[in-house]
Amino acid sequence: MNKQKIIFSGIQPSGQMHIGHYIGAISQWVEMQKDYDCVFSIVDYHAITVKQNPEELRRRIIEVTKIYLAAGIDSQKSIIFQQSAIPAHTELAWIFNCYGARMADLNRMTQFKDKAGENRESVGVGLFDYPVLMAADILLYDTDIVPVGEDQKQHVELARDIARRFNSEFGEIFKIPQSVVRQEGARIMSLLDPAKKMSKSDVNQNNCIALLDSPEAAKKKIMRAVTDSGIEITYDLVNKPAIANLLTIYAQLGTRQVKRLEKDYAGHGYGEFKKDLAEVVAKFLEDFQKKYNRISDDDVVKILEDGRKKAEAIAQKKLEEVRKLIGVR
Ligand code: AMP
Ligand code: TRP
Repeated sequence: MNKQKIIFSGIQPSGQMHIGHYIGAISQWVEMQKDYDCVFSIVDYHAITVKQNPEELRRRIIEVTKIYLAAGIDSQKSIIFQQSAIPAHTELAWIFNCYGARMADLNRMTQFKDKAGENRESVGVGLFDYPVLMAADILLYDTDIVPVGEDQKQHVELARDIARRFNSEFGEIFKIPQSVVRQEGARIMSLLDPAKKMSKSDVNQNNCIALLDSPEAAKKKIMRAVTDSGIEITYDLVNKPAIANLLTIYAQLGTRQVKRLEKDYAGHGYGEFKKDLAEVVAKFLEDFQKKYNRISDDDVVKILEDGRKKAEAIAQKKLEEVRKLIGVR
């Protein structure tokens, strides 16, 4: 049998999931299930690198799982699991801390610099070490391809470096993974500031359309979204970043491509465009939430337990090989 390529990706159960996650990440995973063996994680041990409220974390883990399922991740076909359920992840991360991961690499990570900001000396070690845990996630499964957003490319590069170093010391044990960043829609920007990424950590919720926002609230947010000077609806990232972002959202959540939308809206104003977009977004959310609401908490428990069993079998086997190589077994 032709062995399929393996995909691994994950999202942290922290903060609200929004249409940026759907467009930039999850919808791409759904497509990939057709051609690859996929493993998708809810990476809760990554989430605790910043402070989490325990009750909320518990709730978000279930929420993210339901969002994967409602978006079309098929638990029969793909493995869906909670990272903390499989100790091999943190154990391999520790081994990589000692073999392969270097201070200089981690010091270069732009996400750490951004997140730590001025507090570099006082943030937790976990935030600094986070990319090493991510490398363990990826490398445990002989992953070929890691679909991620632009901001995660550097972390996948690090996973490659760690794998290469480990392999050169102990032999070809880890497969060298590749990141894939979706081109169109790779970065959905804030509705209020097209220079900033739509983000779950933004304090102003009007910047962001959550996947669980009511369709009515989402419509209002679209109508309030900033636009650019001029009147034409054209995809121009330099001169019209706000309209370009809205066009991307329209194309990704609707059925018409950007080129088609530009033609269809030639001679029409921003007001009409936004009204139509608001309808498209509302319809998308309505359909999405119908599916989401059909999934019970019990379904989630069963699916995560099933995923844990499947993932653990793979991860544990890899970890055993590594333990032998380094001499603890
Ligand atoms: P995060 O919530 O930042 O941990 O992101 C989880 C995944 O969703 C990563 O692959 C991100 O790059 C992607 N993602 C998050 N926000 C956006 C956005 N605004 N546009 C596109 N992709 C995003
Ligand atoms: N760090 C990723 C993010 O914040 C989430 C993540 C953890 C991940 N482990 C991973 C993504 C492994 C891809 C592969 O988006």
